[in-house]
Amino acid sequence: MSSSEVTPGPLGVEFQDAALEASVRAGLHAIESALRVAVMSDDAFVGGAASYLVSAGGKRFRPLVSVLAAHFGDPTRPEVVPASVVIELTHLATLYHDDVMDEAAVRRGAVSANARWDNTVAILTGDFLFSRASNLLADLGPHAVRLQATTFERLVTGQIHETIGPPEGTDPIEHYLGVLADKTGSLIATAAEFGAYYAGVEAGVIDTLRSFGEQIGVAFQISDDILDIASDSAESGKTPGTDLREGVATLPVLYALRSSDRSGSRLRDLVSRPLIDDVEHTEALVLLRASSAIDEARATLQTYADSARAMLVDLPDVPARVAFETLTDMVIARTG
Ligand code: IPE
Ligand code: IPE
Ligand code: MG
Ligand code: MG
Repeated sequence: MSSSEVTPGPLGVEFQDAALEASVRAGLHAIESALRVAVMSDDAFVGGAASYLVSAGGKRFRPLVSVLAAHFGDPTRPEVVPASVVIELTHLATLYHDDVMDEAAVRRGAVSANARWDNTVAILTGDFLFSRASNLLADLGPHAVRLQATTFERLVTGQIHETIGPPEGTDPIEHYLGVLADKTGSLIATAAEFGAYYAGVEAGVIDTLRSFGEQIGVAFQISDDILDIASDSAESGKTPGTDLREGVATLPVLYALRSSDRSGSRLRDLVSRPLIDDVEHTEALVLLRASSAIDEARATLQTYADSARAMLVDLPDVPARVAFETLTDMVIARTG
């Protein structure tokens, strides 16, 4: 690479502060090494299945949030690395399970674990990863155990609420935004809290970082939902239209269902019932991509990102605050 080319930072986030960038890279490197160790097993099959998705790829978004939050205190404190590994292991385990639930064939640009082996292997490998997270938590102590437990309770409750759909009389969009906060915002909030807490950050600042994490987490999941419709597999590392195929009504679909304009009637017909074949699936995807509903979802993404950014104003003026602003821009920009 020539020296004139800009090296993209972690997740494509460009850092204005070279010392921060070096320190964040060092932190992420240490987390990566510890993560690789955490998924090893003396049992060759188990170790292979557990390291499979770590090796396949992944953005390490949550470790980045954790490491940046740690930069509001002392990021070299020893617990920052295992606490961040706990978060990525929890996330990883939920991906093994989520792909079973969503019958997904591709994850992180590779054949999903359920497709590579079968549902049983994918579920048990996810459980194995939770056990490894618990092992690290045991050394971090009861505070960490409880925080991970309450976070994980919210995450699975969100997944359950997504599965069962809105109760009678509930606004489906309100319900769905609650699902996003629970299934995704919860873990990203705790990524921020863990990083900050173990870096010795004061309580008021931790609270703000946690709220920021939750808000950016919802924005991140909305962008993931948009990408499921708007991106190709090379970009997302997943199969486009998986949510539609599984009948998971994400935000763009909910906006399409709510609209009453005549041009959207065919789309509403398609997404209000199970799609019968690949032809209908492709048609629904094409219509959604061109719909005002996807623009509405982008506008909601912007609202969450703006609200996350507004929280940053309350934080101490350290270089990591600017990096969090850049990260917020990245979450919006990735949807194109
Ligand atoms: C996927 O998360 C599931 C969501 C909560 C959107 P990521 O988009 O962070 O997945 P990886 O870790 O990069 O594979
Ligand atoms: C995954 O949600 C959220 C969790 C694993 C908790 P999705 O089902 O939307 O994520 P992808 O699109 O499969 O990554
Ligand atoms: Mg999924
Ligand atoms: Mg899912």
